[in-house]
Amino acid sequence: MATVSETGTLNPPQIRQTGILIGDEFRPSVSGRTFQTINPATEEVICEVAEGDEEDVNLAVHAARSAFETGPWSRMDARDRGRLLNKLADIAETHLEELAALETLDNGKPINDARAADLPLVIDCLRYYAGWADKICGDTIPIRGDYFCYTRREPIGVCGQIIPWNFPLLMTAWKWGPALAAGNTIVMKPAEQTPLSCLRLAELALEAGFPPGVINVVPGYGPTAGAAIVRHPQVDKIAFTGEGATAKIIMKEAAQTLKRLTFELGGKSPNIIFADADMDQAIAGAEFGLFFNQGQCCCAGSRLFVEESIHDEFVEKIVSRASRRVVGNPFDTETQQGPQVDQAQFDKIMHYIQRGNAQGAQCLTGGNRVGQRGYYVQPTVFSGVTDEMDIAREEIFGPVMNILKFRDINEVIDRANRTFYGLAAAVWTRDVQKAHRIAASVRAGTVWVNCYDVFDAAAPFGGFKMSGIGRELGEAGLANYTELKTVTMKISR
Ligand code: NAI
Ligand code: MG
Repeated sequence: MATVSETGTLNPPQIRQTGILIGDEFRPSVSGRTFQTINPATEEVICEVAEGDEEDVNLAVHAARSAFETGPWSRMDARDRGRLLNKLADIAETHLEELAALETLDNGKPINDARAADLPLVIDCLRYYAGWADKICGDTIPIRGDYFCYTRREPIGVCGQIIPWNFPLLMTAWKWGPALAAGNTIVMKPAEQTPLSCLRLAELALEAGFPPGVINVVPGYGPTAGAAIVRHPQVDKIAFTGEGATAKIIMKEAAQTLKRLTFELGGKSPNIIFADADMDQAIAGAEFGLFFNQGQCCCAGSRLFVEESIHDEFVEKIVSRASRRVVGNPFDTETQQGPQVDQAQFDKIMHYIQRGNAQGAQCLTGGNRVGQRGYYVQPTVFSGVTDEMDIAREEIFGPVMNILKFRDINEVIDRANRTFYGLAAAVWTRDVQKAHRIAASVRAGTVWVNCYDVFDAAAPFGGFKMSGIGRELGEAGLANYTELKTVTMKISR
């Protein structure tokens, strides 16, 4: 069991599951191969995990297909699906400390965040979709003639779900909740960097009573295990979260079997601070909106637009806050920022910091590695950032804040929209007119007004433009896991 003492010293959680879940059994990979998952705080190997590839995916899809077509799941009352989801939520809540510790160990996020943000959101999401299971209704439709016409919302079938490493358990819940509520079965591939919490939740799902084959989990790499799920003709839908370049590969491959696709991709979200904003709240929101989760958020407020008249004061205050952030051992309860997830992400961030300096932005704090062990990056703030710089255009996915100056609302709307992305945006102002104008004008799936990163299972989330296709969460998220069937019956008169 995971225990984290009040002083933050770690008793590492016991690793219970490192196998591939097919049906009701965790097994080694067919090839016998394993891969290592690394603790990003120490760069040490946590454990070996079974490395799934095409053969394991074939078995997992077969199990999911049988469960969908002939297993108890296919005959289960909708309300009982809801009961199972609620039971899983309850069990996850009982294991909150253990799951939070697993998440911190594998991903590097501060234990405080895992406990107070990730896990409560996971549990809430499962409960929210549990409530939907028996409320997925069709319509009766008044068509011409002597007919009774109605629609049914049926599950799509076997859903391939491929997720990233930034919120391993939360992405699992976002994918499982609506899929299971609607009666689908699942073949999931967690990210190779962070397979542990998903595997443990899958074990808890068996304990909750989900029938064999409803949830299958194949840890492994994208081009092998992930691609095999995407190619498989018996998989009906792919739900993917990750980077746009991967989504393009998936879309191309999925074209062969015309799978349903939903994508939740990256962003370069504008966070717009007007001079009339509550300054303290805006500064706290700018800090949280960018640095939360080590900056590894698809919706990070990574283009911080600050109105000219308050720019210098704002910069001074945000630099002072950023430089005071506590970076260190994620199991220490004082820690606000842990390590980045792996060497590749660390290198990518250092590359962008170097590009920022080379292209003439001013690095006012940070810019370097912290210590010699673990993938720690100093909280970094660039000012004097202009629209065409790489750091203003491309997703950094790290603790690097980019401050851009603006003069008026028309200009900032135009600049905010000059991106291929459209995931999220925020505006800070006391002026209701400005708030609504920004909310309506910025091309993004979510707009926060005087807040940032407010998530709720009931509120849809997803991207305009190249930030995604479809929505997750809320009723909209559920719609992406159902097929609509029209039934027309002749009525004799
Ligand atoms: P990625 O898109 O390569 O990985 C996400 C998931 O897709 C992982 O499970 C991976 O194994 C799988 N995958 C990779 N290639 C695949 C393929 N050919 N077929 C099927 N599945 C495949 O993202 P990665 O490399 O981990 O991160 C790179 C960058 O992507 C980050 O620096 C960040 O900018 C962005 N990103 C965005 C996320 C978001 O939440 N929107 C999450 C993670 C990364
Ligand atoms: Mg990749």
